[in-house]
Amino acid sequence: MTVTHTAPPGPGGGRGTANAADYALDPLGFLTGAVREFGDVVSLSSSNVLLAHPEDIGRVLVDRGENVVKISEGTRRGPTGFPRAMMNSEGADWERKRARLRPAFRSERLAHLEEAAREGVARTVGSWTDGQTVDVHHEMSRLAMLVGATHIAGREPGEHGEALAGAVAAIMRLTSSPRLPAWLPTRVNRDLRRSLRDLDDALAVMIREHRDDGAGTALDALLADDPSFEEVRDELATLLMSGYETTADALTWLLHLLGAHPEANDRMGEEGFARAAAKEAVRLYPPAWVISRETVRPFEAGGHTLPAGTVLGLSPWVTHRDERWFPRAGEFRPERWLAGGPSHRYAYFPFGAGPRGCIGASMALREVEVIAGELCARVRLEPVAPEAVRPRPALALQPRGVRAVVRKPRRG
Ligand code: HEM
Repeated sequence: MTVTHTAPPGPGGGRGTANAADYALDPLGFLTGAVREFGDVVSLSSSNVLLAHPEDIGRVLVDRGENVVKISEGTRRGPTGFPRAMMNSEGADWERKRARLRPAFRSERLAHLEEAAREGVARTVGSWTDGQTVDVHHEMSRLAMLVGATHIAGREPGEHGEALAGAVAAIMRLTSSPRLPAWLPTRVNRDLRRSLRDLDDALAVMIREHRDDGAGTALDALLADDPSFEEVRDELATLLMSGYETTADALTWLLHLLGAHPEANDRMGEEGFARAAAKEAVRLYPPAWVISRETVRPFEAGGHTLPAGTVLGLSPWVTHRDERWFPRAGEFRPERWLAGGPSHRYAYFPFGAGPRGCIGASMALREVEVIAGELCARVRLEPVAPEAVRPRPALALQPRGVRAVVRKPRRG
C-alpha cells in the first residue's frame, strides 16, 4: 500500500468547527455517516481521526504504548478527575496498579457474583407487584449498584449507593450536554462538583468501615497494598462507577431487545442463550460507544501517516453495525454468537482489547447474563411504548424511555 502524508478525507474537508456542531447534535449518526461516506479512516478535525477497520482497531488497542497512549500528559486529569486510579494511569504506574487488581477479577470469584446477582433479582422481583409499570433503567441501575458494590467492596452499598448514583448521573449529564469550561457556574457543573463531594464522603466511610473477611475483593487488594487514602479512594470510585452505569445500560438494552423479540425471550432458559443474548445486546448498544487513544509517534493507517499528537477515535457503535463483519447487522440475532463470532477478531470490541481492555469484562458479561436470565425465569416484562426508546450517547450509551409492565406468573 502506498503511504501518503496528506490528511485522510472527512466531512467538512476534515476541518472542524462545523463538524463539532454536527457531532454535538447527533454523535452516533455523524460517526456512522462519516464512515459510510469517506471510508475506514476519516478526519473529523485537524487532530481527530476515526478508524473503523478492525485491522486498525486491533493495531491501536494491542499497542503497549510505543506508538499510542491512552492518556497523554496534557489530558490526564479528565472531567471526572480521579488521577490516581489505574484507569487514568500510564506506563509502569499503570502496570503496577493493574497487577494489584487482577486477582479480584479472576473467574474463580464469579460464583460469588452469581450468588449476589440471584439474590438481588429475588429481592427486586419481590418488591414488584403484578401489573406494575417499572422504569427498567432505574431498576437495573439499583441492581447493578447492589451487585457491583458487593463484588468490588464486599458490602451492599446501603445509603452510600445514593451518593454513587448521584455522581454517575451528574457525570452523564455533563458528558451528554455540549461541553462548557468546568469553571463556569452552570447548573451541570455545580451539580457535578456537589455530587463529587458527596461521593468523596461516602467513599471515605466505606473505606474506613471496611473489614477484610478473606473474600478477595478489589477493595481488600487495594488496602493490603497500603497506598495513600487518596489512591484507594480514586481507585474505588472509578471501579464502582465504571462497573455501574455500563452494566445497568447493557442490562436495560438487553431487556428492551428481549421485549421486542418474544421468540428470543422464550429461549433465555436454553444453555448458552442468555450469554449469546448479552453479547448481542452490547454489540448493538455498546455502552462504551467510543474509545480514544493519542499517537505519540507517526502512525500509519489506511495509507496515511498520522502525525504524533493525533487523537484516534474507535467506535464500537460504528464497527459493530457494519455489514462487512456482521451480516444483517441492524438485527438482534443472539444465534450469531452460538455459531461462532464475527469474521474478524477486532470487529467486536465492546470491552476494548489488548492490555488496556476492560478488567471487568467477564464480571460484566456474567452479571448481565445471570440477571437477565433470572428475571426472564421469574417474570414477563411487557414493553410500554418501545418505539419511543432512544439511545443517549453520554460517557456511556444510556437507554432512554425503557418502561415495562411486570407480569408475574400465577402460583399453583
Ligand atoms: C457492560 C459493562 C462494561 C463495558 C461495556 C465496559 C467497557 C470498557 C471498555 C471499552 C474499556 C476500555 C477503554 C479503553 O480502551 O480506553 C474498559 C476499561 C475498564 N473497565 Fe470496563 N466495561 C464494563 C464493565 C466494567 C466493570 C464491571 C468494571 C469493574 C468493576 C470495569 C472496570 C474497568 C476498568 C478499571 C477499566 C480500565 C482498564 C485499564 O485502564 O487498564 N468495567 N471498560
